[in-house]
Amino acid sequence: MPDELVSAADYELAAAEVMEAGALAYYAGGAADEITLRDNVAAWARLAIRPRVLDGAGIRDPGVTILGRERAHPLIIAPMAFQGLVHGEGEIATARAAEATGTTMCLSTFATVTPARLAQQVPGCPRWFQVYVLADRGLSRNLVAQAVEHGYEALVVTVDLPVVGVRERELRYPVEAPGTGGKFMPMHLGEAVDAQLRWEDIEHLAAESPVPVLVKGILTADDARLAAEHGAAGVVVSNHGGRQLDTVLSGADALPGVVEAVGDRLEVLVDGGIRRGTDVLKALALGARAVMVGRPVAWGLAVDGADGARRVLELLLAEFDVALALAGAPRAAELDARFLMPAPWA
Ligand SMILES: Cc1cc2nc3c(=O)[nH]c(=O)nc-3n(C[C@H](O)[C@H](O)[C@H](O)COP(=O)(O)O)c2cc1C
Repeated sequence: MPDELVSAADYELAAAEVMEAGALAYYAGGAADEITLRDNVAAWARLAIRPRVLDGAGIRDPGVTILGRERAHPLIIAPMAFQGLVHGEGEIATARAAEATGTTMCLSTFATVTPARLAQQVPGCPRWFQVYVLADRGLSRNLVAQAVEHGYEALVVTVDLPVVGVRERELRYPVEAPGTGGKFMPMHLGEAVDAQLRWEDIEHLAAESPVPVLVKGILTADDARLAAEHGAAGVVVSNHGGRQLDTVLSGADALPGVVEAVGDRLEVLVDGGIRRGTDVLKALALGARAVMVGRPVAWGLAVDGADGARRVLELLLAEFDVALALAGAPRAAELDARFLMPAPWA
């Protein structure tokens, strides 16, 4: 079957065929009316590419520098909780796909493996750790220490989940716990997150951390400036895949303002609705250093484990390569706003 799947969209359809109803609802769903969920994808399509020709497209360089490290390309796997619900090998399979494609994987606090185990099983996977600061601060501290000890190169503190969004698909289709037949709603785990988190906590974490700290879930220039003032090395412009507050703006629409405010001080990443290589190109042209990709990787994982996740990443990278060539921007690091305009069809 996988040979017939030639795009992230193909994998999305195929995953819906094979996933358990509750797991699918959890992965595919967004908050409330899912307006933001849909707009995350639509927002990239509201940008048109202004291509240049005859400027050395024969040799492309998709490489970028992220947090001072040279990376082969700008894709990062977004943190997604409970990948064991998607495939028996869960995050370990995702890590193998990351390793095979030179992609950094960001492991969720709510992963179905510990940071240590993932590092031991797939030591060649470039990895970051996503931090939910839990009400149980001791548990958070232990997880962070474990991640740092096991070679995670950055901490990504997610700040857009003081409470869990209105998740109606999860209410309608609780997850069937593998093996036990019991039902549960993943969103209840969000109750473990400390809703009292403040900027001072970020500052403290950044000061203590031996690795760079990024703040994930920023949508305004003002908050991006605060992240800079409180010691963050970067921000991830994100609305949590449309899963938190419905009708907030998309990452694509929030990105230019954040880049303008802090682009000279912080590394700005973006996520939400990246489904095509052209979306990656647009994100970089708007000033993002790298992009996080969430659900498409999960769809690959659902369809064919590590091979499926790897293939989805390869498809996106191949599309990105074509986009660089045909936009006349052979070097990813040199993309800028001159390559974009508001789409006339939008
Ligand atoms: C099933 C699922 C679980 C997620 N779990 C987390 C998480 O544990 N921590 C986090 O920071 N973001 C989490 N996210 C948000 C993603 O990191 C990312 O922001 C979003 O999925 C990107 O949008 P995309 O799926 O459209 O690519 C989750 C997203 C999904 C779909």
